[in-house]
Amino acid sequence: MPALANKTYFNYGGQGPLPGPSLAAISEAFATIQELGPFSDNVWPYVNRTVSALRERLAAWFGVDAARVAFTENVTSGCVLPLWGLPWQAGDELLVGDAEHYGVVAALEELARRHQLRITSLAVADLAGDVWPTAAAVGQRLEAALTPRTRLVVLSHLLWNTGQTMPIAAVAAQLANHPRHPWLLVDAAQSLGSLPVAEAAAAADIYACTGHKWCCGPEGLGAVALSERLLELSSPTLIGWRTLEHDGPGAGGYHRDARRFEVATSCTPLFAGLNRSLQLLEAEGNADQRLMAIRERSGQLWEGLQRLGGVDTLLEVPPPAGLVSFTMVGSTGEPMDPAVVVKRLGDRGTWLRTLESPRCVRACTHLVSTVGEVDRLLAQLCEG
Ligand SMILES: Cc1ncc(COP(=O)(O)O)c(C=O)c1O
Repeated sequence: MPALANKTYFNYGGQGPLPGPSLAAISEAFATIQELGPFSDNVWPYVNRTVSALRERLAAWFGVDAARVAFTENVTSGCVLPLWGLPWQAGDELLVGDAEHYGVVAALEELARRHQLRITSLAVADLAGDVWPTAAAVGQRLEAALTPRTRLVVLSHLLWNTGQTMPIAAVAAQLANHPRHPWLLVDAAQSLGSLPVAEAAAAADIYACTGHKWCCGPEGLGAVALSERLLELSSPTLIGWRTLEHDGPGAGGYHRDARRFEVATSCTPLFAGLNRSLQLLEAEGNADQRLMAIRERSGQLWEGLQRLGGVDTLLEVPPPAGLVSFTMVGSTGEPMDPAVVVKRLGDRGTWLRTLESPRCVRACTHLVSTVGEVDRLLAQLCEG
C-alpha cells in the first residue's frame, strides 16, 4: 500500500489506503477501455464483464442473489436513493438510532419534512459493554420504542463513533413480527471489509456500503443490497438509462432487480479496482479470520489505552471490530481538545481523526496494522 510507506495510519474507517495491485487494476482498465473503444461495440463486453464480476463478488459477500445488488457512488446514496422510492404515508414514524451519521440523518429529516413523517430516536450510543448484553439491550429498547406507526428503523451495523456492533439480523427478525413490518435501513459504512456481513446484509431491506473504507477500494464506488420486498414495492428515484430494463427511447419499464436504483454512466475502472481490493482481502482469510486479526490490533490498542493515565475509551470492553474511540485529560485534569491531540499526532506522521458526537478521538486498526504501529501510537499519546 503506497500510502502506508511514509505514515502511521489509523483512519481506515475514514478511507482505506489503495493497495498497489488495485491501483494497477484501475490503470489497466483505463488503458483497456482506450484500446478497445472507448465508445465502440468492442468495449461493451469488457465493461459488462467488469461490472458483473464485481456484482457477483459482492453478492457472495452479502449472501444474496446478484439481482439484489445495486451499485452506487457511496454509502449515503445507497441509503438515500431506495428510501426516497418507498411508499410513505403522512404520519409514518422513522425510528433512528442515536449514533447514525449526520449525513444520513439530514436526508431522513428532509424525507420526513416532505412527507409529513415523524422521526423518533432509539438510544444505542450509550451501549459500551460486551456484544451479547448489547444485543439484548437493543432488542428490549427496540420493543419499547416501536409503535403501530413505525414504518422504518435505521441502524448502523458497526457504530462509527463508539465502535459498537448492532445485532442487525435479530433486529430484522423482531421487525418481521411487527404488524406493519417496518423497513430496516442499515448503514454499513464501517462494516463491509471489517465484519462478516452476510447475515446482516441478507436480513436488511437496505444494506448500504462503500468500497473506499474498510475494503480499501477507490473512492467513488459503493453498493447496496436490497430486499426482495423492497424491490417489489419501491420506485426508482434518480432515473436514467441504466434504470431501464431495455435500452433505447420509449423502451418502457424499469429493471425489476436492484439496477432500478442505478442511474447512468459511471467509471468502469473503479469496478476493476474494488474487485482487486476485495480479492486481496479474501486472500487474507475468511471474514471471521479477518475480523479476528483486526480485533487483535484493536484489542492491543484498547488494552494499552487502559494503562495510560487520563485516557477514557468509549467502550468498556475490547472492541468487537476495529474502531477505538477515546477521550483524554491533560496533566491538570482538564479535558484535552481532540483536535489538538489529532494535530499533534499528525505532526509526527500518525493519522487519527476527531469525532463530534461524542467529541472524541478515533483510531482504527485494520489487517495491515502492526504491533509496532500500535506501540508507537501509545508512546506518542504518552508523550502528550
Ligand atoms: C457511518 C457512516 N455513514 C456514512 C458515511 C458517509 O460515507 P459516504 O461518503 O461513503 O457516503 C460515513 C463516512 O464516514 C460513515 O462513517
